Amino acid sequence: MQRLKREGEELDDGCRPRLSALSELLRRARSLYPGGCLELTETFPVFQHSALVDVSHLQERACYYPDAAGEPQLRQAIADHLTRDLAMPRVEPASILVTQGASHAIFTIAQTFQHRLPALSFPVPSFAGYRQVARSLRIPMMEYPAPDEQWNPRSAFSRHPTGALVFVNSPHNPTGYVLNIEQIREIFLVAAEHKLLLVFDVVYDAFIFQTALGAAAPYVVAQEFPNVPAFFVNSLSKNMGCPGLRIGWIVAPSESIAMFEVGVEASVNCLSPVTQAIARELFLHWPRAKCLEVMRARLGRMIDQLGDSPQLQFQVPLGGTMLWVKSEEATVMSLLNWLLEEHAILLLPGSAYSGGSDEYFRLLYGYPEAKIDLVCARIRDFFSR
Ligand SMILES: Cc1ncc(COP(=O)(O)O)c(C=O)c1O
Repeated sequence: MQRLKREGEELDDGCRPRLSALSELLRRARSLYPGGCLELTETFPVFQHSALVDVSHLQERACYYPDAAGEPQLRQAIADHLTRDLAMPRVEPASILVTQGASHAIFTIAQTFQHRLPALSFPVPSFAGYRQVARSLRIPMMEYPAPDEQWNPRSAFSRHPTGALVFVNSPHNPTGYVLNIEQIREIFLVAAEHKLLLVFDVVYDAFIFQTALGAAAPYVVAQEFPNVPAFFVNSLSKNMGCPGLRIGWIVAPSESIAMFEVGVEASVNCLSPVTQAIARELFLHWPRAKCLEVMRARLGRMIDQLGDSPQLQFQVPLGGTMLWVKSEEATVMSLLNWLLEEHAILLLPGSAYSGGSDEYFRLLYGYPEAKIDLVCARIRDFFSR
């Protein structure tokens, strides 16, 4: 019963480099079930892409080193996406750097400024990658409360030292909160006063259900503050459901991109031209609006099945791929252990997040209907035992 919890706690014991709690939990589940268990732990949606991509011509792509900043065709496709889907004014490919997923983008930015950063700041709870980067680069860490409607950047960042680098994640993992335009504007105002560097992690921005301006909001506000350094990180992992391609990108002024490119060359030399070619195809055929509708329907389906459980509390998320569900800590841990031990279903407790607690667990609705129905049915079974 206690095992999931104990392992999560052991993971956060200070500064020893170690794998994230997610990796440790996956290892444990895979050793319990060598034949496979239902891992409802990843935050990417599942779509059927295979029909869209013709890979027959890709072999020749494996036979050269492309540019460290990314294939020009892919940089162009990303720039086109920004103007087409986010209504941004013309974006030059020189403002885009291709990376090995958003994690690599985050690492590259932090590493570029490593020696002049008094602190690296991130929300709690949040994606464990921010803490991992700070730890591995030995940059002092600061935490601020994850945003919600009441969240105020001025108090969240009040003790931040001049020059700190702040990660902002919207839609937020794990709460699904999407910053509104006033909050984004206030972030920039405070950043201008404290000379903060901003990194907007927008990996879930194709799934914003109901806010004005949607995914364009942080880019639009950034244009009002040309003197605040703001970098945007995105990837195919979440928005297109393709984490295995390991394609991410940074959007930034071209001078910053030139600095980050040095980091890419030093860390991975360049990205695979094979996966970059697949990524470009995906961009050309991406049914973004349809994917949003699919995700909206999946969220509705999960809420229909669990929304009336008296033991579970959650806010309907404004975006993203997950529900952040609250209950008694003992209930959460016994539910998650029961699902794993009796039904080979792995869900993540809140402690798998930076600063998260086990009064929460994460339920993902990015899956096809049958899996949503299965996990909801098992949760209902647990409460009706
Ligand atoms: C908020 C957030 N940012 C970044 C990432 C990393 O994504 P990628 O697969 O592109 O490295 C994740 C993965 O879970 C995430 O949740």
